[in-house]
Amino acid sequence: MQKQYIIRKFNPKDLDNVVKLNWVFLPENYPSFFFLENYTHWPEAFLVAESEGKIVGYVMCRVEEKYYRFSPVKLGHVLSIAVEKKHRRQGIATALMNGAEEGLVNAYGVDLIYLEVRVSNEPAISLYKKLDYRVLGVMPKYYSDGEDGYLMVKSISERASDRLITAVLGYRVKSL
Ligand SMILES: CC(C)(COP(=O)(O)OP(=O)(O)OC[C@H]1O[C@@H](n2cnc3c(N)ncnc32)[C@H](O)[C@@H]1OP(=O)(O)O)[C@@H](O)C(=O)NCCC(=O)NCCS
Repeated sequence: MQKQYIIRKFNPKDLDNVVKLNWVFLPENYPSFFFLENYTHWPEAFLVAESEGKIVGYVMCRVEEKYYRFSPVKLGHVLSIAVEKKHRRQGIATALMNGAEEGLVNAYGVDLIYLEVRVSNEPAISLYKKLDYRVLGVMPKYYSDGEDGYLMVKSISERASDRLITAVLGYRVKSL
């Protein structure tokens, strides 16, 4: 079957539609300036999915820096992803994640990519597992309604060993 959507970089003219998707499909909402700020700094890792001229999904990421053994480590952080309900299970989130990872790696040289997800969010957890993210641990009561979150991570560079990951992210989680 031919793909019914395209994946492309976010453009500020998409802002209202992306903010709307965020409000409708996620309990974690951000003000418009937060989307624009991330776009300004990391445009290669902020993508949208478009179907018949309509925005039906987005993924927004940022890049953070930590230190390990006195040298900087670049962390890609997937901040938010959502796909319009009637367009789900067509590979759109997978394509968005693949595109964002490509941007994080090729444009920003990240060593690893991480994200938070509600422990009850089975669709998202299985999406991330399928993309080779693994659960590093649980963040008790991470969400504002008291739900726990998993912190999931994927190594990218050779130096992103378990030891490095524990040093830069392990402090955020209780191990399982
Ligand atoms: C999670 C979400 C982004 C997935 O989007 P999607 O476009 O349907 O995902 P894909 O079609 O790329 O699915 C890829 C894989 O993820 C898993 N998956 C997706 N939806 C699933 C579901 N409802 N139940 C179980 N597994 C699911 C499957 O392994 C799927 O592969 P398959 O279809 O070959 O079985 C979408 O459900 C969504 O927008 N949810 C609300 C917002 C949200 O929870 N965002 C994540 C916050 S951390």
